[in-house]
Amino acid sequence: MRGTRAFGYTGKYGFIRYRVSLGAALHTALEERVIRPARNIVGSLRLPGDKSISHRYGMLAAFARGTSRFTNFSTGADCASTLACMSALGARVEHKDGVIEVTGVGGQAQPAATPLDCGNSGSTMRMLSGLLAAQQGQFTLIGDESLSRRPMERIRKPLAQMGASLALTEGHAPLTITGGELSAIDYTVPVPSAQVKTCILLAGLQTDGVTTVRESIRTRDHSELALRAFGARVERGLENGLHTVSIQGPQRLEAIEAAVPGDISSAAFFLCAAALFPGSQLLLDSLGLNPTRATLLDVLTALGAQISVLNLEERNAELVGTVQISSPAEGLGSTTVSGALAAQLIDELPVLAAIAPYTSGGIRIRDAKELRVKESDRIALTVQNLRAMGAEVTEHEDGMDVPGGQRLHGASIDSGGDHRIAMAFSVAALRAEGDTVIRGSESAAISFPEFFDLLDFIAER
Ligand code: S3P
Repeated sequence: MRGTRAFGYTGKYGFIRYRVSLGAALHTALEERVIRPARNIVGSLRLPGDKSISHRYGMLAAFARGTSRFTNFSTGADCASTLACMSALGARVEHKDGVIEVTGVGGQAQPAATPLDCGNSGSTMRMLSGLLAAQQGQFTLIGDESLSRRPMERIRKPLAQMGASLALTEGHAPLTITGGELSAIDYTVPVPSAQVKTCILLAGLQTDGVTTVRESIRTRDHSELALRAFGARVERGLENGLHTVSIQGPQRLEAIEAAVPGDISSAAFFLCAAALFPGSQLLLDSLGLNPTRATLLDVLTALGAQISVLNLEERNAELVGTVQISSPAEGLGSTTVSGALAAQLIDELPVLAAIAPYTSGGIRIRDAKELRVKESDRIALTVQNLRAMGAEVTEHEDGMDVPGGQRLHGASIDSGGDHRIAMAFSVAALRAEGDTVIRGSESAAISFPEFFDLLDFIAER
């Protein structure tokens, strides 16, 4: 095995072609990247920090009292959006030799002179709305074209019940929050969403009384763990089959120091790539393995991949470890992802679908309607791009059926400006016949700017 490559490596690039997108703003360049087929996946990597955890650490540190320090903070543009919003609200954010230092506002955000730009990041917009709903004043949150299409009624409703006003634009951003003193609520989230849960908890953190969020499927629990790490008391339970999280407000947060675990949703692309090649050997260390996020390991194991987890430890209550994966000589089998699994795997479904044609029995995905309201309609785009590569696939309102035993050919892929679609089809391209062009490949930088360099590093050609 080659030596570990940490992210940040700026080595050989693939072929990059630039094309000015006529429909887009004058200086916008759509990057096209050519992905050549690979013979194998071999290597050892350490990945940049988890996006979900970085958002939460950045936001809570900016709200807390004192100076927090983070290493391995996400390098993605989404987390930069969170930090930029938090500095517009009065926090001090400094980058020092790989450490992000955040000095918080001690529970009192400053009025922002201009609208807070959440970029492409739904997590920033939804979670920050909860934090600001309990602050005196008016705050306007804006986002890019994709974010301005995503549903925001799901946060307006609970925050309105608490007494905040959120003026939406036809159900979407731009949104203007008129915040102030709120009342605690007991709220059952209709669609499982960690962002909505967090939004309510961050409002509850600042509100007299006990705010409780109930969910039928346990969504990622980074907020609960992060709030505790920053010194807040958060209670969890199970009542009448619903998972509950309660927070008694008001509480103060205190600064922390933390190393952010590697992002398992970024790792998913490389794990799936490794699963495609009999004889592959990939090792990922310091990877976040929070049980609400690590479902992909179970699914890949069910498909036949050999996975071992070593050096498990806890960092601020987040599980971290080393994952080793290799693929069996006979290739991958088949599986169905539905129910709670679909919700827990939501960010990994595009890449699972993208490798499905290369399995022997195919992959069936159901109960994943939420994919339609992510950064793009991920069901429609995944189906469209699989077909462009010559795959047979049946689209359903809440998922798709991708039969196995198929051969794909290289094609021109429309990423739709969606980072996970760009990366998912770069993985599918590794086993295709001929080259694949990923249009809008720059979108990978939303969560994983180092993706193409690291893919090049582990792909044997
Ligand atoms: C996230 C939660 C998920 C996920 C998103 C990040 C988070 O969205 O898709 O990429 O950090 O809380 P929902 O909460 O809307 O399901």
